[in-house]
Amino acid sequence: MDGKCCTCRAPVNIAVIKYWGKRDEKLILPVNSSLSATLGMDELHAKTSVAASSQFKDDRIWLNGKEESVSNPRIQNVLKEIRRRYAQKGDGDSAVMKVHICSENNFPTAAGLASSAAGYACMVYTLARLYGVDGELSEVARQGSGSACRSVYGGFVLWEKGQRSDGTDSLAKQIAPADHWPALRILILVVSDQKKQVGSTEGMQTTVATSELMQRRIEVVPQHTEQMIKAIKDRDFETFARITMQESNQFHAVCLDTYPPVFYLTDTSRLIIQMVHAYNTMCEKTRVAYTFDAGPNACLYLMEEDVARVVGLVNHFFPPGSDTSENFVRGRPVTLLEQPSQ
Ligand code: DP6
Repeated sequence: MDGKCCTCRAPVNIAVIKYWGKRDEKLILPVNSSLSATLGMDELHAKTSVAASSQFKDDRIWLNGKEESVSNPRIQNVLKEIRRRYAQKGDGDSAVMKVHICSENNFPTAAGLASSAAGYACMVYTLARLYGVDGELSEVARQGSGSACRSVYGGFVLWEKGQRSDGTDSLAKQIAPADHWPALRILILVVSDQKKQVGSTEGMQTTVATSELMQRRIEVVPQHTEQMIKAIKDRDFETFARITMQESNQFHAVCLDTYPPVFYLTDTSRLIIQMVHAYNTMCEKTRVAYTFDAGPNACLYLMEEDVARVVGLVNHFFPPGSDTSENFVRGRPVTLLEQPSQ
């Protein structure tokens, strides 16, 4: 593999059952299972190139054009695991060649738009291609960033929390392919492209340590997950949308119950929530669902037939350039897609 280079892209995923809280910080094992949809590659994605050469003295990494420390424990875990699998194959040059990794996102990083999910999924996938390593890659991606394990697959993806302490059963699996629900669309409303003040890793640590509501959440997530899987399989949008919004609200309630509290939603986010409920009431049916991750940006799930009306509504209430819209970028309909590609 001397002198070899490989480039891949991996998409963002947006959780409808939220991952928030770890039972093992080092192996990144979650306290609950989570479920997401992987977005289309043409929209938000990470792109990673990895080169291996006997001429390289050290491993090095550049993120969005800036060199970062490769000694970051998560990057080290990923590199070690891929190299361990490569050595196990025993059919290659086992001398560990150094790599140079270059990764970039085509969207704001660390603004609560799942940048680490796409980034680590992409890094793991590209390294695996370069080293010719097969096998379950979600287990490796998980050790970079929990939510990254779900971006290894396309369509609707469940990350099972697993039972074992070594994490070998804490894996992602596809529960339905992207073409299972072709009319489903996602609009991303970028409220702010600023880096979040409290990162997910730190925020969830404080939640697990201090939130009393979190105990209740751990009890109800299995029910939500079961109902959500059924709603996806039946293409039952009303149930899918209701659980998606309740999950988002419960996650942010748990953040508020964290001490000191963690605030990710802004006034604009709350106006979007009100707008969605007003629209659903007007339609006398749940036709749009919102969900927010660790940031103020909204992801709206809806059916293709509602896209034009909802985009019109968004532009009416948040006209580009107005004060209320902060850094508002118009939502674009995004389709679901297959897994990372070269
Ligand atoms: C709110 O995967 O970024 O987006 O495992 O510490 O890297 P680490 O956290 P991360 O957390 C994402 C949390 C979330 C919900 C979700 O995607 O399920």
